[in-house]
This record gives sequence, C-alpha cells and structure tokens, in this order.
Amino acid sequence: TAYHDEFLPVVDSTNRRARLLADQGAPHGSGVRADRQTAGRGRLSRTWYSPAGRNLYCSYILRPRLSPAAYPRLTMVAGLAAAELLQRCSPGVRVGLKWPNDLMIGGKKCGGILCESSVDHTDDSHSFAIVGIGINLNLTSEEMPAALRSIATSLAIEGAPPVDAAVMFTALRDQLLADVAVFETEGFQEVLTRWRRFDVLAGKRATWVAQTGEVVAGVSLGPDEKGLLRIEDESGVIHTVVSGDISMAGK
Ligand code: BTN
Repeated sequence: TAYHDEFLPVVDSTNRRARLLADQGAPHGSGVRADRQTAGRGRLSRTWYSPAGRNLYCSYILRPRLSPAAYPRLTMVAGLAAAELLQRCSPGVRVGLKWPNDLMIGGKKCGGILCESSVDHTDDSHSFAIVGIGINLNLTSEEMPAALRSIATSLAIEGAPPVDAAVMFTALRDQLLADVAVFETEGFQEVLTRWRRFDVLAGKRATWVAQTGEVVAGVSLGPDEKGLLRIEDESGVIHTVVSGDISMAGK
C-alpha cells in the first residue's frame, strides 16, 4: 500500500497535522511522526510533554470499514496495539493498559492515546479517525520534569533497552492496522478479550471523577462490549462510565 507518511523535526501537534493530510485524502494507514511538538495535546484539554530526541509522537489516519458510531472504540484498539508492541519490544518490563487509553509500566504512565474523528454524515466513506500516540521511550529520569516524576515513566527509566522512534513508528502502524482489521472482521469482543490481558484496573478499587465533578468509587469490572468502564460500588450497583479520569486506590 502507498501510505502518505510525513516526518517533521518539529510540529505543533501530529494530530492536527494528520487531520490536514486526511482532509486532503491521505489513505488509510498514513501517518505523521515528529521529533518534538510545540503544542502536543492530551485528553481532557491537557498538554503532552513533547521534548526532542527522546520519545515517539505520531498520529495515524484510519478509514476503517466501520460505522463512525464505532470510532470511539478505536481508542482501545490503539491502546491494545501499542501495549502488544511495547510488550514484544521490551519483554523485560510488564506493560499494562489503564482504561481508556493509558499505557502503564510499574504503576506509572509511559504513554497515551488521543483519538479524534471527522464524521461526514452525508457520506460515511469520507469519514476518518486520527489516532495520536505518544510513548516515552528514551527519556531519562533526570530529564523527566519534576511535576511528572511521580506519575510518569519511560521505557528507559524502567530499564528497557534503547528504542528507535522511527522503527517504532512503522512497527506500531503494522500492529495498529492488524488490530483494526481484527475489529472489522471479528468484532469488538475479540479486541476486548485481548485488551483485558493488559487491564491494570480490573478487580481493583477505582475512583472515577467525571468532568462534571461526579464521583463513583468501587471496584472496576473492566470495560463492557461498547468499551465503557463498569465500576461496582459498595452497594453492588454497577455504574457505567463514559469518560473522565480514573484513579486506583492509593494512587
Ligand atoms: C493522553 O494520555 O492524554 C493522550 C496523549 C496523546 C499524546 C499524543 S503525542 C502524538 C499525538 N499528537 C498530539 O498532540 N497528541 C498525541
């Protein structure tokens, strides 16, 4: 396949750049990678720490054979792909996924996914999704900003051998397209089965805080067949949460 790929020494956000390429017709699987970002974005309008020469910042354009209604579940497909790849590259560390989109090692975050979509209501074939992935690869503990030190990590900090971001970019695309194909042909259940192997919250006490301020505390039952997280509270009521922040007990 002829992908339209781009590598940029610096960009504001690879997600924004990828959206532009998608609007211009770049095919399924095309990607943008940057060495650093000046306005890297995270979920919930946060910024994503994006220094040069250390990490992977990339975005892929997906035009899946799925209804746009299923696009939100691509966040979990992308998380699965990243976790599978990281686990394969660095068998010495234990890679986990924290719903909906955090890549975890040793209780700390080493990467995240920002999935955005553009839906054409008159013609589904013009719809696309942008999957943005940031992974801390070779960042050292000295380089990690003090404010992030207790919550964030990198493969290097966890003792994994050095990883080349360009190699990772290509390997991640292959894994992502393979997992998107699983979603298309076998359905989300199969994605979920694989995702659950990495679930760091399952069976653990979790507290969910919605952007509205609503709080649900209980035990995580893992994501349901739509990709929404289920939390069982003390009285046995099961709450389904859509988005927002989850924290584990004691973290
Ligand atoms: C999160 O955990 O909040 C999601 C972080 C996503 C960061 C990546 S880095 C590459 C891509 N471009 C962006 O601006 N954000 C994503």
